[in-house]
Amino acid sequence: MINIAIDGPAGAGKSTIAKLIAKKKGYIYLDTGAMYRAIAVWCIKAGVDVNDEKAVSQILETVEMDIVYIDNVQHILVCGEDVTSKLRENNISKAASDVSKHPCVRVKMVELQRLFAKKHDVVLDGRDIGTYVLPDTPYKFFLTATPEERARRRKLDLEKTGQSADFNVILEEIKQRDYNDSHREFAPLKQADDAVFIDSSDMTIDQVAEFIIDRL
Ligand code: DC
Repeated sequence: MINIAIDGPAGAGKSTIAKLIAKKKGYIYLDTGAMYRAIAVWCIKAGVDVNDEKAVSQILETVEMDIVYIDNVQHILVCGEDVTSKLRENNISKAASDVSKHPCVRVKMVELQRLFAKKHDVVLDGRDIGTYVLPDTPYKFFLTATPEERARRRKLDLEKTGQSADFNVILEEIKQRDYNDSHREFAPLKQADDAVFIDSSDMTIDQVAEFIIDRL
């Protein structure tokens, strides 16, 4: 199976690029961040504090996660309930970053991701795919851009959906999430030694996708 790992910080354009490559190559796209977001949604729904490792591990024992594709769009079902529409809600980004630091959560998600990669040609985007989930894949990319450029893109995305947002607030959130994701103890956000580094600050989406496809 072909497994393409695209890691990097929040807002670097990983999901846009990963989706485009998957479409061009006829592979499946697996958004691993959505899996951590789904756990955060489930905890919040159950009134569990995402920072309380014990409570999170208890609820996790009852969680069954399914990943399905409807019209080529990834949906996540938790215990049979489709939580996809809730994954991008405002408070979920930070909650997902917080819940993802617990080893019990990561072990369960990584098991599903490895199983998926074993069965399918897949482009996975995340934080630890090249370093921890699939260390043996030959196709590893680390995609980033300056925090300012990532905040600018995020602001444009929000404005496109009719939401207004303050640039400085977004920039601070992005920096905080970078710190959180790269300083957790277990499988932090980090470039794999053998990953190809891409700074997309001055590149278009198509240029990044072509750059990656040329290296497959
Ligand atoms: O890519 P995203 O913004 O949807 O990810 C949400 C959070 O999930 C991110 O802040 C950290 C966590 N995450 C992770 O720890 N490992 C991954 N492979 C993907 C995401």
